[in-house]
Amino acid sequence: MPKKGGVLFRDLRTVKDVLLAAALEGGRVLKEHFQSEKVEAKTKTGPSDLVTNADLKTQEAVLRLLSRDLPGVQVIGEEKENEEATGEVIYVDPLDGTLNFFHGQRQFAVSLGYWVNGEPTVGVVFNPVDEDLFAAALGQGAFRNGRPIRVSPYRRLSQSVLATGWPYDKKELPRVLNSLERLLPVSQEVRVWGSAALALCYLAAGNLEGYWEWGLYPWDIAAGVVIAREAGCRITSIDGGFFDLNGGEILATNGYVHEEMLQCLGGRGPNADSG
Ligand code: IPD
Ligand code: CA
Ligand code: CA
Repeated sequence: MPKKGGVLFRDLRTVKDVLLAAALEGGRVLKEHFQSEKVEAKTKTGPSDLVTNADLKTQEAVLRLLSRDLPGVQVIGEEKENEEATGEVIYVDPLDGTLNFFHGQRQFAVSLGYWVNGEPTVGVVFNPVDEDLFAAALGQGAFRNGRPIRVSPYRRLSQSVLATGWPYDKKELPRVLNSLERLLPVSQEVRVWGSAALALCYLAAGNLEGYWEWGLYPWDIAAGVVIAREAGCRITSIDGGFFDLNGGEILATNGYVHEEMLQCLGGRGPNADSG
């Protein structure tokens, strides 16, 4: 692999192909377990935070392909022990939307995000039940099942469907409920899909206009952020500051409704300098 000015320089098409193959294989394992008696679950941090044998088997299958085809790249996975991220990293959420999966609901996905020195670079998200495959690479656009996607053109919250997520940590509920009280009356509606990765992809594809959530981990959104950015989304922290993958929160929009969302969420006002 060539190096450019000390920075790793890998062919992004190759990385994308490897992530696509790994996501398809992970999706195959998930589909095999979906709505089957083979699924066993344990709780993690609380009663809504589950891990199933399907999460573990999928992660195993994905990691096997990544280490074979992208040797030397650090992998940070939700269901494994991790070290601090440095350089080239693939964030793996083998099953984003475990609660949906466990309850036989179809909104879940394999999510694989490749970041280089803190830069969102390649992302792949695959919902195997809907056969909905999202992929993007830096500077190469975002795609859904091979077709280019773009953010929606709607400019006002009154024309917008928004999305958020419920935190596993119930102590976080008051601020989520407070934000809903502010955004529900002024938007068309607010959805909660139960998969942060898919919410970002739907935003990228123009199916919704804004998404905000607290209590996130890097693997929930590392892939979705690449796809959303490549489709034209604006992404900041919830108060309008620079987005930090490790910051645990995100505000992502089609760009047009960003300032209005910031105002409603009580962050910095219009024209604030943000990422
Ligand atoms: C969860 C989903 C959910 C979000 C949670 C995540 P998991 O991931 O993305 O939508 O609200 O914050 O932890 O646990 O199903 O991989
Ligand atoms: Ca997740
Ligand atoms: Ca997960």
